[in-house]
Amino acid sequence: MLYLFQLGHQPHISTAELEAVFSQRKISYKEVFKNNEYLILEIKKKLDTDELINQLGGIIKIGEQIELDLIDYLKTKYGKIIFSINDQKLGINTKKELKSAGLSARYVEPKNTATILHNNLVKRQTDLTVIDKKLFYTSAIQPFEAMGERDFDRPGSDDKSGMLPPKLAKIMINLSLVDKAKTILDPFCGSGTVLTEAMVMGYKYLLGSDISPKAIDDTEKNILWIKDNYQITDLKYKLHECDATQLHQIIIPNSINTIVTEPYLGKPLRGNENKITLQKQANELSKLYIESFKSFYKILKENGTAVIVIPQFRYQDEWIKIDCIKEILKSGFELMPFDKDDCLLYHRPKQHVGRTIYRFKKT
Ligand SMILES: C[S@@+](CC[C@H](N)C(=O)[O-])C[C@H]1O[C@@H](n2cnc3c(N)ncnc32)[C@H](O)[C@@H]1O
Repeated sequence: MLYLFQLGHQPHISTAELEAVFSQRKISYKEVFKNNEYLILEIKKKLDTDELINQLGGIIKIGEQIELDLIDYLKTKYGKIIFSINDQKLGINTKKELKSAGLSARYVEPKNTATILHNNLVKRQTDLTVIDKKLFYTSAIQPFEAMGERDFDRPGSDDKSGMLPPKLAKIMINLSLVDKAKTILDPFCGSGTVLTEAMVMGYKYLLGSDISPKAIDDTEKNILWIKDNYQITDLKYKLHECDATQLHQIIIPNSINTIVTEPYLGKPLRGNENKITLQKQANELSKLYIESFKSFYKILKENGTAVIVIPQFRYQDEWIKIDCIKEILKSGFELMPFDKDDCLLYHRPKQHVGRTIYRFKKT
């Protein structure tokens, strides 16, 4: 069966996330088509697309192939036919054709996922995509409203240090390949986005630490808020106020399966900093990350993984990068690349900071 995946605004990351999730679930697939927006996969196993979309951070919608042609398919629908399709001209012509066949039809321009949801098109199975001469209906769509609430309505937030977008937290958890029954640690937990998204995804064993008492307080508030809102009962979590370079002082050696973290990214940037300032910040962060990895080595289990954001700073047309990878590898880690890339760059055009995602394994 063919499945269509609409990729997020960082398509290379969405693809890497899908690969990780399918490899973890031992689902084999064949790539049939790919461009910057869509990926078509042939998958023998029937997917529960509702469950899957809730696990993923980087996929906007999932579609399933329709074997009928467009008009014949829409004629199978009862009552007024309300539909959208990714090709406006085709949508308008299809509406005319249905009307001339005596059927009542309305074409909805699919501006964004909200339009699709508010017109109930997922339930109706009439949000359609034509791509690679194949027709798909959307069977699941990203729960963007719930994600927005978790991002903006949480009780504890820290605008100064910045918060990881919930989507990216989910992506990083998926990239870590960690099993639901295992422990995730975020040693720079901030207001707890990694931990709260892990809760929503069904992880039960969580540890968080941060050097700031306010961060620990915010994380606790947010965990309790999610616990309440999502009626999570069997959660085991612990939070510690601790410097990430000293974790081995408080956490049992070889006890952690996975670390997923967006660490301290330095002082927020305005974009007018000179090169020396950015280089200085990069050097300071390099030391922090190298020292933190020495501590991670002690507390991770053998083959334990660490998925971490390493920032890079925009200076005019170049990136100032943090030189720490070689030292991290020397402290007992190996890189687990994503397909052909050692890291994945997450960056929006106007941002001064790019986030590179690295995945390490303790050797
Ligand atoms: C970018 S924020 C993390 C944000 C978090 N991912 C979220 O979404 O809320 C970085 C955090 O690192 C913490 N931090 C800075 N230096 C630290 C250190 N040496 N050890 C542990 N935490 C540290 C800060 O207090 C801050 O909460």
